[in-house]
Amino acid sequence: MHRALSLAERGRGRTTPNPMVGAVVVSDEGVVVGRGAHLTAGGSHAEIIALADAGNRARGATLYCTLEPCCHIGRTGPCAPRVVDAGIRRAVIACMDPNPLVAGGGIAHLRAHGVEVTVGVMREEAEALNRPFFTRMRLGRPLVTMKAALSLDGWMAAAPGVRTPLTGAAANRRVHRERAEVDAIAVGSGTILADDPLLTPRGAFRERPLARIVFDSRLRTPVSARLLSTLAAGPVIIMSTPSAAANAPDRVGALVAAGTAVELIAGDSRLHGALERLAAMGINSLVVEGGVALHRALWDADLVDRIELFVAARALGAAGMEWLTTPVFSSSRVTGLTTELLGDDALIEAYVHRPH
Ligand SMILES: NC(=O)c1ccc[n+]([C@@H]2O[C@H](COP(=O)([O-])OP(=O)(O)OC[C@H]3O[C@@H](n4cnc5c(N)ncnc54)[C@H](OP(=O)(O)O)[C@@H]3O)[C@@H](O)[C@H]2O)c1
Repeated sequence: MHRALSLAERGRGRTTPNPMVGAVVVSDEGVVVGRGAHLTAGGSHAEIIALADAGNRARGATLYCTLEPCCHIGRTGPCAPRVVDAGIRRAVIACMDPNPLVAGGGIAHLRAHGVEVTVGVMREEAEALNRPFFTRMRLGRPLVTMKAALSLDGWMAAAPGVRTPLTGAAANRRVHRERAEVDAIAVGSGTILADDPLLTPRGAFRERPLARIVFDSRLRTPVSARLLSTLAAGPVIIMSTPSAAANAPDRVGALVAAGTAVELIAGDSRLHGALERLAAMGINSLVVEGGVALHRALWDADLVDRIELFVAARALGAAGMEWLTTPVFSSSRVTGLTTELLGDDALIEAYVHRPH
């Protein structure tokens, strides 16, 4: 299962909306005769690649798989019947697939056809590998990471609306590496106006488009925003409201003409609605890079799953823009806290909700 998990890692940042999956076929003599990894949505599933790799040696062998084999027809055919047809005698599965189209159906199919099945070997590791996918399947929204940089004296910016670069090269490299892996990043319209960010992964290889989301209830994003010049890197989605669009149809027209998608979400729980809409687009992971108002709104709505806080080695002085007003890290909901030094800066990471 260790080997299957490391095979699954090969799909990191590439398989969305699917999970990362690895599989290994082992003969009765304990020899690995087949290996497979799911590398891209629409591509072959890990079990099928491992079975093909094993060929006839799969007959009577054991299949180790990091996720339950599927039993539904998606972009590729169902895997569980193929496992049976290949003559696998025993299947060891790390965790069940929470996709409602599978959810135990693959395991039931294997058992019904005489395959001996063990479930739960290295379950924690396998679930950790696919937290974003599991969150979307179980909660109907992406896994939300709240990312912020604070000065040594705790400010998020020197003053409201003032662009304040805080972190050094090593921390910035980490940010860009993350941008190369996640499905989407988001900012509030205040950050677009203050920082005019590009929101592209730079200095890190990314295979597929990166969706950038702007939470902009009043359609304040200017068509001259630098973000709108980066559509080659991926779509830009403006999350706004029907009333803003009704008040300023010309602004919607201009933003759409500039190549963005404008999504209109009504109601009091607009943040939930926006996240559900992103999940419906197949987005498993979302990193919210700021600013203050958007972070506070997500925190207050209990929609933050992970925190990533960079504490910079420089102080800003007496006055600045405060981050959250609640002491986040002393909240009883925060678990799994880790710290790491990146150049002169420190990175503190933690989970807020128990991982799904
Ligand atoms: N240190 C860091 O990590 C970091 C990162 C990013 C930004 N910043 C700094 O933060 C500052 C910008 O922060 P900010 O608070 O002014 O702006 P912000 O959080 O980027 O954007 C706030 C805007 O988002 C819109 N929004 C849409 N849906 C919302 C919702 N459900 N809840 C709350 N807001 C929603 C609101 O627009 P409407 O008002 O139209 O409703 C609101 O004005 C800048 O100075 C920037 O440099 C720092």
